[in-house]
Amino acid sequence: MTTELLTGIAELTTNDPRFGGVTGRLLDAAVILDGETIAWVGPAVDAPAADRRTDLGGRAVLPGWVDAHTHLVFAGDRSDEFEHRLAGHAYEAGGIHTTVAATTAASDEELRASLAARRAVATSAGTTTMEIKTGYGLDVAQEARLARLAAEVTEEATFLGAHVVPPGIDADGYVSLVTGDMLAAVRPFVRWIDVFCERGAFDADQSRAVLEAGRAAGLGLRVHGNQLGEGPGVRLAVELGAASVDHCNHLSAQDVDALGSSSTVATLLPACDLSTREPFPPARELLAAGATLALASNGNPGTSNTTSMAFCVATAVLQMRLTVEEAVWAATAGGARALRRTDVGAIVSGNRADLHVIDAPSVSHFAYRPGMHLTHAVWERGQRVV
Ligand code: NIG
Repeated sequence: MTTELLTGIAELTTNDPRFGGVTGRLLDAAVILDGETIAWVGPAVDAPAADRRTDLGGRAVLPGWVDAHTHLVFAGDRSDEFEHRLAGHAYEAGGIHTTVAATTAASDEELRASLAARRAVATSAGTTTMEIKTGYGLDVAQEARLARLAAEVTEEATFLGAHVVPPGIDADGYVSLVTGDMLAAVRPFVRWIDVFCERGAFDADQSRAVLEAGRAAGLGLRVHGNQLGEGPGVRLAVELGAASVDHCNHLSAQDVDALGSSSTVATLLPACDLSTREPFPPARELLAAGATLALASNGNPGTSNTTSMAFCVATAVLQMRLTVEEAVWAATAGGARALRRTDVGAIVSGNRADLHVIDAPSVSHFAYRPGMHLTHAVWERGQRVV
């Protein structure tokens, strides 16, 4: 296998605690790649020889983004609904049905092409790991189709049959379908199960039934919780040991404490919060309580039509008052924790060689130059893809 030495790294975000600080930052650093993996990380002056050498010209390097929450398998457009919200109306989960209708009408080829295009845009902006949910099918055949298409582009596919209750069936009947035939049909394609635990979607008992069925089938647990109001989502996620509870806009003091003393990651979705004008989650309180934070795009046509993790980082810094290092950690190592992955989200020897090189000397530029396209190069599994 050919080894490649990357030099000219003004600032390297390793997320390796051995290098100290929030992000294990090294100045004037070097990295050696060996095939799909990282073989060596350290100060440039100590770098061993390699077969090839690439000079990155004084740029900053960080792990590829780990986007742990997206709903990218969909068809259709909901800009009308977005404009309605801008006119002062609240987000309601019912808009999901519009996307279900458009998605159901789309062919496999259409869905595959739009998903590949969205995935390519995310890659071009530095995302190297992406979770993708079903949830715009809501019947057995459609959910299985969406799970199969998601699994074609990610090893982190999630079954979100419990997104909303479709028309023509009562909630308990639908939960029986989700936990029975639908779960069996999607099982070969997915690693996770998720539920939208919220007023207007699924209550605590229904959410528990969905999560316990998923766990019995060998899936890891994720929860959409406390997005539109205080509710049982966070408590349930912590009680069941879910890998992540996502949104977390409306938290009681008990919810904050519960997250602070659990291994359930609080995945925050700042682009969604802007689009829906929900209050931002109490990120500083969560950190002070000891919670682990992830930042994710929540790319979907209803509440967050973006896959830009740089935008999420800038918003988390400028609006949620995370430091740049906290936000970058949350969008890389935090995302990896939310997916219970140890091979991505950090630039350490033995990890997958997923690197993001930016046209800036420091990650502080994500917040200093918000909205600018800073990506210069991306390595995914040791291959330069951008
Ligand atoms: O995470 N909250 C539930 N699901 C998505 C929105 C889906 C939609 O409106 O299409 C979310 O925000």
